[in-house]
Amino acid sequence: TVLVVDFGAQYAQLIARRVREARVYSEIVPSTMPAAEMLAKNPKAIILSGGPSSVYAEGAPAIDREIFEAGVPVLGICYGFQLMATTLGGTVDNTGSREYGRTQLSVAKASSTLFEGTPEEQQVWMSHGDACSAAPEGFTVTASTDLVPVAAFEDDERKLYGLQHHPEVMHSTFGQQELEHFLYRGAGLSPSWTTESIVDEQVAAIREQVGGKRAICGLSGGVDSAVAAALVQRAVGDQLTCVYVDHGLMRKGETEQVEKDFVAATGVQLKVVDAADRFIDALAGVSDPEQKRKIIGREFIRVFEQAQAEIVAEAPSDEPVAFLVQGTLYPDVVESGGGTGAANIKSHHNVGGLPEDLEFELVEPLRKLFKDEVRMVGQELGLPDEIVQRQPFPGPGLGIRIVGEVTRERLDLLREADAIAREELTAAGLDRDIWQCPVVLLADVRSVGVQGDARTYGHPVVLRPVSSEDAMTADWSRLPYDVLARISTRITNEVSEVNRVTLDVTSKPPGTIEWE
Ligand code: XMP
Repeated sequence: TVLVVDFGAQYAQLIARRVREARVYSEIVPSTMPAAEMLAKNPKAIILSGGPSSVYAEGAPAIDREIFEAGVPVLGICYGFQLMATTLGGTVDNTGSREYGRTQLSVAKASSTLFEGTPEEQQVWMSHGDACSAAPEGFTVTASTDLVPVAAFEDDERKLYGLQHHPEVMHSTFGQQELEHFLYRGAGLSPSWTTESIVDEQVAAIREQVGGKRAICGLSGGVDSAVAAALVQRAVGDQLTCVYVDHGLMRKGETEQVEKDFVAATGVQLKVVDAADRFIDALAGVSDPEQKRKIIGREFIRVFEQAQAEIVAEAPSDEPVAFLVQGTLYPDVVESGGGTGAANIKSHHNVGGLPEDLEFELVEPLRKLFKDEVRMVGQELGLPDEIVQRQPFPGPGLGIRIVGEVTRERLDLLREADAIAREELTAAGLDRDIWQCPVVLLADVRSVGVQGDARTYGHPVVLRPVSSEDAMTADWSRLPYDVLARISTRITNEVSEVNRVTLDVTSKPPGTIEWE
């Protein structure tokens, strides 16, 4: 394990991802964790992340000197670099001048462990106020910039390295190479953390946890629950039963996809519950978004609990259904407390809003993985691309994409319009470029149109294509006009009742991705 010590938002996750891209397993720990606890994890290397503080600010996070004296290779980045400097006796000046953004870095020593094979002049990404003016004793200065005399240093004997710039950021042209030099050359690690090894490790862990008992998993049709289920299926076979609740708010072909593709690829025992009537009846007359969400969540829990009781009744066994499989991802774990202990487990709704009082022990085989890694594991497990590369789709489904009351007729209209948009986006090869593209039916709005020389008075749909990295923020996607034109023509021709197609050009914030 490589420990990434988190000194501030954003940076640590990105560093952890880059380390994993170098095929070395990494974990994030908060900077408040005592050094002894960090070292007890037996890390093969430690990376100190950047952070928003100045090392001189009151209450600025510090690091125990022990970390540098344990014989574990350490790389300090930005704030971590300055902390390394001050902790070991170097000088960091409160210069008042800031270096921010793309910066030219001059590499002073070609024989450096980190800079080996990278150019003498290179573009890096900087973001700091204070600057290091003297390296600690025993260190060699390996780079500088116009403003910063000591922009990188290393002590190969003690295996301590520091970079003022952010190698994890794309704009640092040779950053990944420098990180890899630290991992492979500095820390002597090898790129052995592969998708195959993740699957093997998880399968073994699941077998140990579940033993001979039974487990259930709520499938939403999304990537995370599908991959989690496939992993557990690989580990314990028929001890797992998956439950897929068709709430009637799914998109065209969705249920069939889970029924056929997923089962074909995994051989999993699947229980499909057709609960469309129940959900649609419960939604009758409701147009308030929050109320819709609550109703859908509530009904989901009831159906799921009923399905679980049926599973127990249908296949009586001495082995209890003791485990619930969830597709919790690493960012969720980190965001709920740094992944430092079981106490921080967060209850997720990514399988559609499971009740918190279900008495199960959780199996969360994706707890250590980022989304792209989950996709790779899915591929390794033989899941089809249609599942593995799926764009996000909200648990409440089309129910929150009909502005106004949800009815069967409106769901049918929206399903058709949505299927056309998806078909055309796929045909244009744009699936990977966009994060998702909700199609929203403005069911309470009508406008006048003309079609076949006759007046129409139909509903508009809204296309909401967005690009995003994590759905926390998003930008509207600049789709090619010809693709938009095809979608528009087809929807208005093929979906009666829809006579207008509009495009949502709002980023998030201020808009959210979904309309409700
Ligand atoms: P918003 O609309 O909040 O959406 O910008 C952010 C991302 O989350 C998805 N989303 C949901 N996913 N249950 C889910 O599983 C939900 O209730 C839910 N609401 C929104 C949305 O599709 C987008 O990817």
